[in-house]
Amino acid sequence: MTSHGLYEGLTNYGDQEFARYLRRSFSHSTGRSPELLDKPVVGIATSTSDFNNCHRAQPELVESVKRGVLAAGGLPMEFPTVSLGEGFLSPTAMMFRNLMAMDVEEMVRAQPMDAVVLVGGCDKTVPAQLMGAFSAGRPAIQLVTGPMTTGRYHGERMGACTDCRRFWARFRAGEISREEITEVERSLATTAGTCAVMGTASTMACLAEALGMAVPGSATAPAVHADRLRIGEATGQAAMELVRSGRTPADIVSPASVRNALRVLLAIGGSTNALIHLTAMAGRLGLTIAPKELNEISDSTPTLIALKPTGEHYMEDFHASGGVPALLHTLRDTLELDALTVTGQTLGELLEGPPPWSDPQVVRPRHDPIRPRGGLVWLTGSLAPQGALIKRSAADPSLFEKTGRAVVFTSLEDLAARIDDPNLDVEPEDILVLRNAGPVASGMPEAGYLPIPAKLAARGVRDMIRLSDARMSGTAYGTIVLHVTPEAAVGGPLALVRDGDLISLSVRGARLDLLVDEDELARRRAALPAAEPRFERGYRRLFQDHVLQADHGCDFDFCVPDPKPMP
Ligand code: FES
Repeated sequence: MTSHGLYEGLTNYGDQEFARYLRRSFSHSTGRSPELLDKPVVGIATSTSDFNNCHRAQPELVESVKRGVLAAGGLPMEFPTVSLGEGFLSPTAMMFRNLMAMDVEEMVRAQPMDAVVLVGGCDKTVPAQLMGAFSAGRPAIQLVTGPMTTGRYHGERMGACTDCRRFWARFRAGEISREEITEVERSLATTAGTCAVMGTASTMACLAEALGMAVPGSATAPAVHADRLRIGEATGQAAMELVRSGRTPADIVSPASVRNALRVLLAIGGSTNALIHLTAMAGRLGLTIAPKELNEISDSTPTLIALKPTGEHYMEDFHASGGVPALLHTLRDTLELDALTVTGQTLGELLEGPPPWSDPQVVRPRHDPIRPRGGLVWLTGSLAPQGALIKRSAADPSLFEKTGRAVVFTSLEDLAARIDDPNLDVEPEDILVLRNAGPVASGMPEAGYLPIPAKLAARGVRDMIRLSDARMSGTAYGTIVLHVTPEAAVGGPLALVRDGDLISLSVRGARLDLLVDEDELARRRAALPAAEPRFERGYRRLFQDHVLQADHGCDFDFCVPDPKPMP
């Protein structure tokens, strides 16, 4: 037992005995018995907020964790951190992921706890919590809030937020009325929980489990399902086991577990954002993900989970179909089974015994995948020297090998002003380019899902190649190249693209090239204006000055240890 309890990590008054006496005095004011106050402490990091609809059911979930901790002989201590409700943050939740990570890290380190349960779910929350906990170095376990269940609209099953985009595209094309889209709006997100499809939140939940940082089977249970509360209790009990073993994230997360998580990311057709987050999380432990390795794993991993936006199902279906354990059984021979988990067992030990029942329409067998290969491809080339990403599982294969004319938007404002201009010179075979939407320029919003120009949408065009230094929601789909790195704001070649330039995309060759000769690019580069800082002070200035590019997970340069390549 490595427990220290509530009376360790004392406030420094220059008198340790006085500090202990004072800590005890204030602890007694909580009304807990002296016997309970002497127990090992499990901190419970919560992120409930009226601005975070996804975490609406968190208070009940936290109570279930407390039951688990108490039953196992510990003292549960809940504490709040920053909460990141994806749709309520401006300019973008991504700008505040690192703020939450710093909050979690410092509060876990500063407060007296022997282990911590991280309770969260909305997109940036799980990566922020794990980044913080990885750096804090205390025993930690993730508990996700769970997904929403689906709603109904005119008899059709729907869930946030792939269906949001599908209906919005129909509205933009004039296929449905304003009254209808208003009615759809009320049917998309109807319960507590995170988005119901394989978006970023669901992806990160699956990755937390695949990394070994969460209780087996915990990723998929809906937020309002009784299973979620049982998982909460089990997580509280598992946290007490961590107290006893003293096992920290650095003991659990290894190159093998990161590779397993990558394989799961690809098999689930997971969100592009997840690669940024997994890179940042691994980076906190000094581990790096090589693009070549991602592509090799992608090429050798079939897409097996038929959830939107890749398939037709929702997270509740995945849960009813065995969840992540069913997938891990299906992938068993491709996984590194000696990877450790928070349970104290290896992945191989967890996968002993028969697999759970599974619906083959949701968790597809290896011989009948949705796609024979994984969803993501890391591209490099003259337009993206440090890389770019395409989610081929959500894209149109007929656009994978194309050269097209660039139609450039210089900023989000420029995009909003001109995309629907009837005079915009654009054809379906063109490539829409957005720049100045990267991490330094604007916190890397999910703006990579450029709308199809209204005049093309009205002609029935549903997809075309779009590329940017932005991110894209995990619930979105289309032939969209993201995370072009370096971003335009730090002088990446994206800053040099002009209307009419030819751009070549080859998903087969993993290439993204700007077909403009070097002399011309040098002339354009010399004429680029010097970058102006956008933010003058405070956290936003810190973010702008220290955020790394997407290939380093957009973490802060001062938060990452020296990287070591994964063996
Ligand atoms: Fe919270 Fe989608 S908005 S998970």
